[in-house]
Amino acid sequence: MATQDELKRIAAEKAVEFVPENEYIGIGSGSTVNMFIEALGKSGKKIKGAVSTSKKSSELMAQYDIPEVSLNDVMGLAVYVDGADEVNHMLQMIKGGGGAHLNEKVVASASDKFICIADESKYVSRLGKFPLPVEVLPGARSLVSRKLLAMGGQPELRLNYTTFHGNQIIDVYDLHIDRPLTMEDEINRITGVLENGIFARNAADVLILGTEQGAKVIKPGQN
Ligand code: 5RP
Repeated sequence: MATQDELKRIAAEKAVEFVPENEYIGIGSGSTVNMFIEALGKSGKKIKGAVSTSKKSSELMAQYDIPEVSLNDVMGLAVYVDGADEVNHMLQMIKGGGGAHLNEKVVASASDKFICIADESKYVSRLGKFPLPVEVLPGARSLVSRKLLAMGGQPELRLNYTTFHGNQIIDVYDLHIDRPLTMEDEINRITGVLENGIFARNAADVLILGTEQGAKVIKPGQN
C-alpha cells in the first residue's frame, strides 16, 4: 500500500502536465505543493514566472530556478496549483492547514484555472471534519470566537502561531458545512475576520487525486 506522501507525489507530478509554457502561474503552499515545485523544476518546462503564496514555496522555487514574480506586476495567471485539506465533489475545499489561505485565496482569484492536487484521503463527501482555519485580527479574536460559537462551531486559537500578515488563526471544529458558499460569505462578514479557509467562491476547476491506481483527474460534479 502506498504512503500518503507517495500519493501526494503522484498528484504533484501529474500537475506539471497542466502547466502551460511561457505563461505566469500561481503556486500555493504545503507538502504536496513542495513536491509539485520539485517536479516542475526537474521537468525543464519554461514558464515566464510564478507568484508564490509562502516563504517556503519561494525558497523552493529559488532552489529549482523557477522565477518568482509579484502579483502586482502581472495582469493575471494562467493556472494556480495548490493543495487542500479537504475537497468535495464540487471541488470546493477547506484550506489553510498551513495558515496561508489568505494569500492563497488572493492568488487563486487572479488565476484562470485552479488545479487542486491532493492524495485521495482529502476527498470527502462533506466539508467540515477538518477544522476550518479563520484568520483574524489579534484584537478581534475573542469577539470573532463568540460569533463562531454562535454559528455552532468550536473555535480554538492556534497557539504560538502568527500569519505572514501578523494576524492569528482560529481553527473551528464541528462546523456543519452543508452550504459552503453561504458559510464562506457568512464567516467573512464577521468584522475582524480577514479570510476563512472555505474555497467555494474560488473552487478548483480540476482536481488531481493521487490514488493507489495512479493519478485521477476529476472535474466539478463528475463523481
Ligand atoms: C496551506 C494549505 C495546504 O494546501 C493544505 O494545508 C494541504 O497541505 P498538504 O499538501 O501539506 O497536505 O491550504 O494553507
